[in-house]
Formats: sequence, C-alpha cells, structure tokens
Amino acid sequence: MTTDPVPLGDLSDLADREMRCFPDIGPHGVLVCRIDGRLHAVENNCSHTNWSLAEGRLRGTTLTCPRHGAQFDVRDGSVTAPPATEAIGTFELELSPDETAVHVQIDRSMPSQ
Ligand code: FES
Repeated sequence: MTTDPVPLGDLSDLADREMRCFPDIGPHGVLVCRIDGRLHAVENNCSHTNWSLAEGRLRGTTLTCPRHGAQFDVRDGSVTAPPATEAIGTFELELSPDETAVHVQIDRSMPSQ
C-alpha cells in the first residue's frame, strides 16, 4: 500500500475527548479524536451500514455509532459492541511537536469523494 500525507492543519486546539471530522478526505472522511493527549484517526464510516460516525458519541476510547449503537475502539478501529462485526479503518498521523502541522496518511488507491 502506498500512502500520501494529506494536511489536516492545526489540531493544537482539539481538546481531550473531542473529535473533529475532515469530510473531504478519502471516500468517507476522517475523524480525528484526542484521548489522554494522544491523537487517533479513524474512517468516518460505520462498518455496519456505512453511516457517518461524525455525530457519534466518544467516551474514553469508545466511539458509538449514532444510528444503531455499534461501538468501536478508536485506537485500532476494532468492534467493541454489535451490531457491527467488522473493524473501521484507522489512519497513521504525522504531527509536528506543537501539532500545528498534522498530516494523515491516506492510501493512494482509495477513491476520493
Ligand atoms: S450504521 Fe452504525 S451501528 Fe448501524
């Protein structure tokens, strides 16, 4: 898999336990979450029926889908509660020490929106 860095900009203002959606990146968008000071990036697409997770609830490392309540661990995308059975995609982040220049690695073969 070949990836390209896509700039997300300055995330230094993203508070702990908050998430921000970048809807125009990749086929479904990217959600970036901050948990205990660390940033995590997941695909904005519930694996149950391809629903946006941007309006979901983030508690600890668990992201709950707003449609039917499936839960995912944003650290690795794994399913932690049904009805979803497949993990959601995760992305590598590259960031400057002050987080004013954050890039997400996107697979070049993924179709864009
Ligand atoms: S679409 Fe997410 S749980 Fe059904």
